[in-house]
This record gives sequence, structure tokens and C-alpha cells, in this order.
Amino acid sequence: MPFSIVVGAQWGDEGKGRVVDLLAAEADIVARYYGGDNAGHTVTVGDKTFKLHLLPSGVVHPHTIGLLGNGMVINPAILLNEMDQVRQSGVSLTTDRIKISHAAHLITPGHIALDTALEQARGRQKIGTTKRGIGPAYTAKVTRSGLRVEQMLIPEKFEAVVKNHINQVNSQLGGFEEQMSLDAEKIAQDYRGYADVLAPYIAEVGLFAYQALEQGKFILAEGAQGTLLDLDHGTYPYVTSSTPTAPGALVGLGLGIGTANRVIGVVKAFQTRVGEGPFPTELSGDAAVRLRGTGENDWDEFGTTTGRPRRVGWLDAVLLRYAVRVNGISELAITKLDILSGLDSLKICTNYQTGDEVYDNLPWGPADLSQYQPVYEDIPGWEEDVSSIRSWNELPDQAQAYITRVEELTGLPVNIISVGPERSQVIIR
Ligand code: IMP
Repeated sequence: MPFSIVVGAQWGDEGKGRVVDLLAAEADIVARYYGGDNAGHTVTVGDKTFKLHLLPSGVVHPHTIGLLGNGMVINPAILLNEMDQVRQSGVSLTTDRIKISHAAHLITPGHIALDTALEQARGRQKIGTTKRGIGPAYTAKVTRSGLRVEQMLIPEKFEAVVKNHINQVNSQLGGFEEQMSLDAEKIAQDYRGYADVLAPYIAEVGLFAYQALEQGKFILAEGAQGTLLDLDHGTYPYVTSSTPTAPGALVGLGLGIGTANRVIGVVKAFQTRVGEGPFPTELSGDAAVRLRGTGENDWDEFGTTTGRPRRVGWLDAVLLRYAVRVNGISELAITKLDILSGLDSLKICTNYQTGDEVYDNLPWGPADLSQYQPVYEDIPGWEEDVSSIRSWNELPDQAQAYITRVEELTGLPVNIISVGPERSQVIIR
């Protein structure tokens, strides 16, 4: 019973959608397990580019069934809009194809307003959230006052529950400097409308996934965000409010320990981050512009969800070894190798240093990285455009040396290398 988990090994935006798209060709079921529409996965198929936030990106393969797991926080307005867009591109999304966990939580305009108000109140200590209501929706879940998807199945009661929730949010918002007030009546009616449309998609996703594994089906779990944004294992407090690491796939889908047999860590060939928080190998100036791109191309380093320019830097093997450990990664996929073509020389951070002390591993987790200096190793660059290369042997020696060094520094094989945004632009070893 194959159950593979694709997980981001950095701060999100590693190009997981790209790797998922490749593996989903073999999968029966594709599943999102945590997070919400803070995620943005771009998948390019021929002349079509799909920008997905809530649906598992593997659903663009028409043979798959897409699951939205119990760990997710779902904004139903965004989900319906996304489903419409995918359908307009010719992909059918019937109730046989999409199943939403009854135990997932809902995001409302109330959570979004609170996210915005809390960020304003944090001032210079702001987290730089995506303002999609993620933190407040998970807060409500943990304080046992959240709205669960299954409540949509009893429409009259659901409408009253939403109204009551928005009224409560309004009283909370009154405490913030910039006061906002939401129309509880209207939002409750809107949510009742969403419930009518989404009700047929609601399912016991955990049971469905379990039975599928028993029947020998292949489930591919799609991590959103990345290891260093994990609530427990990330650069706290500059993290998201969920568990994007691989163990989250079990909790967030309702599957037991021992079911997963492959964890693929996706690593961008350099490092990026959106939002605030530490970033030891961050670059600035021309070098940063070179790696980020101008924003002209879909794949340039600008947020899929917010459009914000991403911070960029050199690959950090200390953080990568940490990601391997907390996720139980069994192999790596490297994305965007093509972007490094044309650089005279590259750097990889192999260790951290404070004073005379040199560290292989993070001595105290990643929360406070500001005390460390990255120790770099220089690696010669390559001139050649690698975007049309499809086999390992054809890669320039320096590109092979770069990947081999990542393997040595992590102790894991790099089995997938993407060299461009198109489905076919990949090297499989
Ligand atoms: P939130 O998840 O909207 O609460 O944002 C918390 C932090 O996680 C911010 O720094 C966001 O920029 C970051 N973040 C959330 N989702 C993603 C993602 O999918 N990719 C990259 N960064 C993300």
C-alpha cells in the first residue's frame, strides 16, 4: 500500500507542485493535509498554468481523486472559485473526484479580519502573514470554538452558527485600533449558499484514504508551506499555524503511523522566503535580483498567493539536514536548477559558526538563527542552459558536482531534478 508524502524542505515555495505533478501521474489519490489558501501551487501543463491554493495540485491529472484532509482550514468562497477556474480549463471536478473532510475547519471573513487586525497590532513585530485568516482559524480550532465542515450539513443551524461567530468576531474587532465591523447577516447567508454547493463533496476522508490503502491504491500527500514554517519545528514565531512537516500528513489525513513508505523532500536549488523571520544565507542587491527574477515570468520569485517579492539566498545545508531529520525524508527532489546557469560561482552553506564554535547541526532548533554566521563552500558555476537537458549524464560537470555535494551534505539521493517550469523539463535518476 504505497503512501508517499511530498514535503517542502525549506520555507515553502520549493516547487512542490512541480514534483507532485510528476508523481501524481502514477497516483490514484492526491491529498492536501494541512494549511489553507495561504499555499499557492503553480502547475504548468502545455499552454495552461494552474494556480492552486486549496485543491491538491495533482487533481489536474483527470484520473486522480483529490482529498482535502481534516487538518486543513478551508475558505469555501476561495475553494468554489478555484473549482470554477479549474473546470473552465477543461478539468472535471465531480463529487466522485473531490472529497472534503467533515472534520476540516472553515475560514470566514471573521478570521481574515482578525488576521489583518492582529498583524496591524503587532507593528514592527509583524509576522508577515498572507492575511488569509489562517492563524485565527487554527486558534479557533485549538480553543474548540471553530467551525467544522460537517456543520454545513445542517443548513439552518449552520447559518445561525456563522452569524453568532461573526457577531463574536465583531466584538473582538472593537478592541483593535482600526475598528472594523462585518455584516453577520450577509456572511451567514453567503455561507449557507456555499454549504448548499459543497455538501455533496463532504466525506469521511480518513476512512476513504484507509480503505484505498487497503485496496492497494497509491496515495500522494501534498505538503503545503515548508518545514521551516512548521508551528513546532519552524523559525517560531515566524511560522504558519499548522504542521506542514511529513508527520502532519498522518494527523491531517487521519492515517496511522506506519502507513507512509516514502517521504520526498523538495528543495529549491537556492533558498527563498516570504514574510518576516531569520534567513542566514539571505542575499541582497544584484545577486538577489539575479536569483529572484523580475516578475515577468510565472516562475520568478514572487508569491503565488500575495505577489510579494520573495527574499532569496544561497542553499543552506544546515537547515536542510534539520529538515531531513524532522520529516524523515527518504530522498530529495531539487527544483529550479536552470536558474543557476550563468553564475560564475555558487555558494552552499555547509555549517554555522559562532565565535570559534562550528556546528554541523542546529544546536538549539531554528527559532533564533541570528546568532550564527553561515560557513560557505564555493562551488564553480556553469554557463550552459540546462533547461532542455533530460538526463543526468548530459548535465555540465559543475551542475553534477553541485547536486552531488547536496547529496553528500544531506546523506540522501537526489532522484528528481527540475530544470524548467514545464512538465517535461525534468531529469529522473
Ligand atoms: P500565514 O500562514 O498566512 O499565517 O503566514 C505565516 C508565515 O508563513 C508568513 O511568513 C507567510 O509568508 C508564510 N507562508 C504561509 N504560507 C506560505 C506558502 O505557501 N509559501 C511560503 N510562505 C508561506
